[in-house]
Amino acid sequence: MRKATTIIALVLAALFAQQTAMADPEEDRLAFIAFYQARFPEIPLAEYANGIYAIDEDAREQWLEIEIFPPYEFAVEQGQEFWEEVFADGKTYTDCFAQPIAEIRPLYPRFDSDRDTVVTLESEINYCRTTHHEPELDYAKPEITAITAYLAFEARGNILDIRVGDDPRALAAYEAGKQFYYSKRGQLNFACVDCHGISSGLYARADRLSASLGHTTHFPVYRSKFGRMLSIHERFSGCVFDVRAKPFALQSEEFRNLEYFLNYMSNGFEVNGPGARK
Ligand code: HEC
Repeated sequence: MRKATTIIALVLAALFAQQTAMADPEEDRLAFIAFYQARFPEIPLAEYANGIYAIDEDAREQWLEIEIFPPYEFAVEQGQEFWEEVFADGKTYTDCFAQPIAEIRPLYPRFDSDRDTVVTLESEINYCRTTHHEPELDYAKPEITAITAYLAFEARGNILDIRVGDDPRALAAYEAGKQFYYSKRGQLNFACVDCHGISSGLYARADRLSASLGHTTHFPVYRSKFGRMLSIHERFSGCVFDVRAKPFALQSEEFRNLEYFLNYMSNGFEVNGPGARK
C-alpha cells in the first residue's frame, strides 16, 4: 500500500515538473524552423520573410509588380516627419531611444523588467510621448503606423534580435504568447497554428495560407483591400475575428505577448518592412 502511494506521488511530481518545466525559446525556434523546412523543403529559409509570396508563385508575380511603386512609400515619408516632431519640452523621439534609428525595430518587442510587461514598438512610442507630456497616439489611427513604417524601412536588412533573457517574467510573457498561438478559439475552434502551421500552403476559401515563420518581419503592411497601412495587431485582430472569437484590443497584453512570441520565432531574419499585401 505504502509503496503504491509513493509511486503515485512520484508520478504526479514528474507530471507537475513537466508542466512547469521552463520553456526554452531557442529550442522552440529551432523546432518551428524544422517544421516548415520539412513541410516545404524547396523554400529557402530567408524567403519566409515574404509571407505567402514565398509559397504562391502567381501571387508573387503580382506582388513584385506592386513593389515597383510601393504603396507604403507615402507612409514612410509621413512617418519620418512625425518622427522628427519636436515635443513641447524641446525633446524628440530620439531622446527616448538609446540606439541609432536603424537598430530600433530589430529589438522590438522587448520585455521591460521595470515596467513588468512586453513593450512593442507602438507602446514604446506612446510611452515616450507620455514621458514628454505629449498625448498618446491612437493605435487605430495612421500616425503611429506611419512611424513604425519609417522605423521598419530604416532597419531594412538588419537582423531581428528579440531577447527573452533571464527574467522569469519575460519567459512567462513569452510562454503566454506561445499558448495563445496554439490555443483553439472562436466558433470555428481554430488556433493560429491550425491555419498558419498545419494547413500552411493550403487554401482557406480564396486565400492560400502563409507560414507563421517570418510573419513579423514585414510589418506594418499596406493592405490594398483597405487602402491603408495596418499594424500587426490589426492583422491579429482580423484573424481572431475570422474564427468568430472575441476580439482583443490593439496593444492588449494578449496581443503584445503573442507578438513577442512570434517575433522570437523569426529571430535571425532580416527586417524587410514595411510590406504590401492584398
Ligand atoms: C481560419 C484560418 C486562419 C486562422 C485560424 C488564423 N489566420 Fe492568420 N491569416 C489567414 C489568412 C487567409 C491570411 C491571409 C493570407 C496569408 O498571408 O496567410 C492570414 C494572414 C495572417 C498574417 C499576415 C501575413 C503577412 O504576410 O502579411 C498574420 C501575421 C497572421 N495571419 C497571424 C495570425 C495569428 C497570430 C493567428 C492566431 C491568432 C491567425 N493568424 C489565425 C487565416 C487564418
